[in-house]
Amino acid sequence: MDHHTNLILPSLLASDWSNVGAEVKRAEEAGAKWLHLDVMDGNFVDNISFGPQMVQVVRKQTRMYLDVHLMIHRPDHYLERFIKAGANNITIHVEARYDTSVADTLKRIRAAGLQCGLALHPDTPFEAAIPCARDIDLLLIMTVVPGFGGQPFMEKETMPKLAAARDYRDANGLGFHLEVDGGIYTTTAPIARSNGANLFVCGTSSFGPPDMKEAMRELAESVG
Ligand code: DX5
Ligand code: ZN
Repeated sequence: MDHHTNLILPSLLASDWSNVGAEVKRAEEAGAKWLHLDVMDGNFVDNISFGPQMVQVVRKQTRMYLDVHLMIHRPDHYLERFIKAGANNITIHVEARYDTSVADTLKRIRAAGLQCGLALHPDTPFEAAIPCARDIDLLLIMTVVPGFGGQPFMEKETMPKLAAARDYRDANGLGFHLEVDGGIYTTTAPIARSNGANLFVCGTSSFGPPDMKEAMRELAESVG
């Protein structure tokens, strides 16, 4: 799948955790191909969510592509556990602390046969991603401050960066996906699409409505 393909990625953080198995099935039946899993350590971000065991549980429930977003310090220390748990993509934050380095960690993810992503906090300029731009399968432009679902879309702080990332990718013949994450609704998804996004992480807007299939359809329609 190349970066011309638009996908809506439900974010498990916004699901009913008392019923994770059923929620994963609901997302799959609603047409999701990728599922976004937000791992938070309470250090890198001011919230704690879940770890590799949740990835393992979800892996057993579905064949969807698991897009694991590590909002944690020392992602290289924990990497093996997420690989073994069954992640398909692992995205790490350029701002996190590492025992080794961002570059090493990206290489290790690919060496394990997975795809790898680099995430940028809204305050981090696109230039921070350039050293690794040739070594990633996706660039995640956070459109909210990482840590919580249900926050408002940060348009002016993040759309110029997204467009700069698209222009850099296309000018350099690169192929990474552009993923946006946080505050994505039928109103904001088209704005992100017009600035180059093709992967749209939707927590509240996909798991929130009772009819998830209809919500996913409307979201997909909003990005054409
Ligand atoms: C926030 C997470 C997002 C979040 C999506 O730190 O990375 O994936 O769950 O949130 P909403 O509810 O805005 O789609
Ligand atoms: Zn996320």
